[in-house]
Amino acid sequence: MDFANLSAETTSQARLLSVLDTAVDGIIVINDGGRILVFNKACEKLFGYPAGEVLGENVNILMPQNYSDHHDEYLNSYLTTGQRKIIGIGRAVHGRHKDGSVFPLELSVGESATPDGRQFIGILRDLRPKVEAEERLDAVQAQLVRMARVNAMDEMGSALAHELNQPLTALMLYLQAVTRRARKSDDVVIPPEMLEVIDRAVEEADRAGKIIRRVRQFIEKRDIERVRVSLAELVDEATDFTMIGSRTRGVTVNRNHSEGVADVYADPIQIQQIIVNLLRNALDALVDTQDQTIDIETWQDGDRVAMEIADSGPGIAPSMLPDLFKAFATSKATGTGLGLAISRTIAQSHGGDLTVQPGGNGQGARFRLVLPVFDTSGGKEQTNGH
Ligand SMILES: Nc1ncnc2c1ncn2[C@@H]1O[C@H](COP(=O)(O)OP(=O)(O)O)[C@@H](O)[C@H]1O
Ligand SMILES: [Mg+2]
Repeated sequence: MDFANLSAETTSQARLLSVLDTAVDGIIVINDGGRILVFNKACEKLFGYPAGEVLGENVNILMPQNYSDHHDEYLNSYLTTGQRKIIGIGRAVHGRHKDGSVFPLELSVGESATPDGRQFIGILRDLRPKVEAEERLDAVQAQLVRMARVNAMDEMGSALAHELNQPLTALMLYLQAVTRRARKSDDVVIPPEMLEVIDRAVEEADRAGKIIRRVRQFIEKRDIERVRVSLAELVDEATDFTMIGSRTRGVTVNRNHSEGVADVYADPIQIQQIIVNLLRNALDALVDTQDQTIDIETWQDGDRVAMEIADSGPGIAPSMLPDLFKAFATSKATGTGLGLAISRTIAQSHGGDLTVQPGGNGQGARFRLVLPVFDTSGGKEQTNGH
């Protein structure tokens, strides 16, 4: 081999190596003794070894123990019997990183005869992103199954509300019939204090009926309908039916509605959906706390009406913060992670927004809803408020 040829060969080899180094896939060439001859840049990233550290080493240092013990046998058996275990087929295997961690790989192996003997070329692709995507898909699928269940629950709630409405109405009518009769005629004698008690029972039944009608309206599917409405009134109504049973748990709700706040132009049920979501989250956050307080405020800020719901819970977990308003972000075993995502979408579709002060360090979470004021000049919502 003369000098000129040698340099040409070196140049072409350098060119080949630089091509290998630009490959996205890991490329390893080994000789028939299993020694590493080529280890490209992608491999350095994949396995954490610089090429200099592995060239000349047995390729089994890149394999988990249980494989590496057998690799020399495989290689020998192939070389002597021609029986292929892996050559020519892409298959999922595991690689061992320099730090000892094991990760999934797709490996295809080719073979070539060279003047220096047989060589094997392995092309490796990192399967971690694929495995992660599959895990994510599984999680999303589980969420969808749960969503279907939530949907079924809503339908049950709607049926239940319907069933309860009738006996409640009947109860009210019966009681009213008694008091009316007693007040009109002299032959039915009921002491006045008793009549008052019955009147109060009628009021309570009426209140229960109203709550159930609200719940039904809230649950049932319906068209979107925007009207001029007071945010404070929506807040009060939604709070009443969300807090059923919570007072007995020891939760205190403070409401503070500023005077003279303008109306908003909004779909009442959708806005109440936001309020209910925020209150339910606040109730969830309060289960383990001593002080169980929810503060609700409404006020006007220029051409916007604002509402804040603040709780005395632990605040938003830092790990939740980046994806808080994204669908399926939940820290709860039975959560859907849809409440805040849907709520912000509703707020923004009204030309408003939903934001959070996460709290923490002894402070609870504080959510703020803003909506544009009802524009009396055009009778339409304003969307240019900021
Ligand atoms: N008031 C709050 N206090 C603390 N964390 C909250 C509060 N509201 C929401 N979060 C966090 O935000 C997550 C997402 O809430 P959400 O979208 O309503 O879904 P879900 O309630 O189904 O988990 C919750 O799982 C919880 O981690
Ligand atoms: Mg929620």
